Amino acid sequence: MADAQTPPAGPDLAQGVALADFTGETLLGHVGDQDVLLVRSGEEILAIDAHCSHYHGPLADGLVVGLSIRCPWHHACFDLRTGEATRAPALTPLAVWQVELEGNRIFVRRKREQPKPRGAKPVNAPGKIVIVGGGAAGFAAAEMLRRQDFSGSIVMLSSDTAPPVDRPNLSKDYLAGSAPEDWLPLRPDEFYTEAGIDLRLKTEVISIDTKARNVIVTDGGNIPYDRLLLATGAEPVRLPIPGADQPHVHTLRSLTDCRAIIASASGARRAIVIGASFIGLEAAAALRARDIEVHVVAPEQRPMERVLGPGMGDFVRALHEEHGVVFHLGDTVSAIDGKRATLKSGGVLEADLIVVGVGVRPRLALAEQAGLALDRGVVVNPYLETSVAGIYASGDIARWPDTYSGENIRVEHWVVAERQGQTVARNMLGQLEAFDAVPFLWSQHYDVPINYVGHAEKWDEIVVDGDIGSRDCLLKYKSGGRVLAVASIYRDLASLQAELAMERGSMS
Ligand SMILES: Cc1cc2nc3c(=O)[nH]c(=O)nc-3n(C[C@H](O)[C@H](O)[C@H](O)COP(=O)(O)OP(=O)(O)OC[C@H]3O[C@@H](n4cnc5c(N)ncnc54)[C@H](O)[C@@H]3O)c2cc1C
Ligand code: FES
Repeated sequence: MADAQTPPAGPDLAQGVALADFTGETLLGHVGDQDVLLVRSGEEILAIDAHCSHYHGPLADGLVVGLSIRCPWHHACFDLRTGEATRAPALTPLAVWQVELEGNRIFVRRKREQPKPRGAKPVNAPGKIVIVGGGAAGFAAAEMLRRQDFSGSIVMLSSDTAPPVDRPNLSKDYLAGSAPEDWLPLRPDEFYTEAGIDLRLKTEVISIDTKARNVIVTDGGNIPYDRLLLATGAEPVRLPIPGADQPHVHTLRSLTDCRAIIASASGARRAIVIGASFIGLEAAAALRARDIEVHVVAPEQRPMERVLGPGMGDFVRALHEEHGVVFHLGDTVSAIDGKRATLKSGGVLEADLIVVGVGVRPRLALAEQAGLALDRGVVVNPYLETSVAGIYASGDIARWPDTYSGENIRVEHWVVAERQGQTVARNMLGQLEAFDAVPFLWSQHYDVPINYVGHAEKWDEIVVDGDIGSRDCLLKYKSGGRVLAVASIYRDLASLQAELAMERGSMS
């Protein structure tokens, strides 16, 4: 929607536009104060809300693929005929508009009635589904089950204290103090009751009885299931150094963790971030936005080099230095005593607050106890089913056969976790859908977004198109001439095109 200051976009579609003026694939206009996008797909002309329901990304800059459109920012996908958000991270449908052709003019005057999402007619639908985990994958699965008209019971067990939240925001705008509280919940509290999702917070599952088909929670209660999803995510690695258990030393995974950091940040002058990972550096940027002096201590020589290569690593370092972050690379913290952190190199840094971002470990205890096949994660087949029939796994714990790379991989990406949850929901209802989405992640540092599609643990060549320093680049990570992954800054359309080419096996 256009606000009072922003004039509505493009031509007034209610007044009509000449067919001859609609020459491209999309045309951005408005109806009243709503921005509406006209889209040509083959012979058909369709109209849809112009902004993504995730973070309001401009669909006019997105990619039309058949009868769908993909968002340039984080690659959500919407069905152009129904408005349904068919691929995470968007979960809410967009309005679709009635297109009328009168003579040689196109008119858009009103929204079409929101078509009901495709209700799959589940064959052999289970009666009882239990989801362990109230994060990205667990929530997306529950939401998709109801979207698919599943009418049986859904019990969602979460050891968190809060209903599912937009976790990526916890190291970005929310931590920086620029996102209001109501941005965080993936859905308002009443959603769960209205959708018939029995969300039980502060409930830890301690074991699974795969024979009796029960999960057992801490108070000893048994919850029976016909199908079970394990989506227990990952937990931050804690530093085995003296003083790491003090109240001003934090890790960052949950809303509770984030609130504890914000409380420590209040009145703080200086912070240390241990680790130059995505989360550590995003947290550094957020703390700088709160005007706190930030020192980053990390053993590597360049931040993020292992994932993004040396060029991006140097860029990320320079970007943070421009914003006043001080790096202590090639070093580690060996002890923390109150405000004093001793470095391995011998130096001492003083800080009111310390954030430890040294990686995460998948939470595998339950899967291990249940006897599921493990291989540095829970092994799943292409349908995301574990070695025990009827038990699925998704998100940070799952190691799945990735179609594009041909490898069994496990990643820690928000969009992958949500999409896997969605696939599991459909498969629990008998759809037998292989998970073949190409992995996607994004990271945000100040005003610079980094998008990444594919998966490259090693490469022998990085081909850079554009200029990293000018924040206009696309990097291809290649091995034996094959592109394994593509990272980009402000090349959103090219990133979407790379994702599509990888899906179609035509990436070059
Ligand atoms: C601060 C932060 C920022 C991030 N930013 C990005 C980003 O910008 N882009 C990106 O791609 N990825 C990002 N990630 C990673 C992304 O959030 C994860 O990949 C994603 O949340 C994984 O989803 P999941 O469902 O597997 O696990 P989670 O979302 O972690 O959910 C796991 C759930 O399981 C529950 N649980 C665990 N064990 C039990 C048990 N025994 N009983 C009951 N409940 C249990 C937990 O309480 C939690 O509710 C970020 C992560 C963090 C922490
Ligand atoms: S804004 Fe569209 S996917 Fe995030």
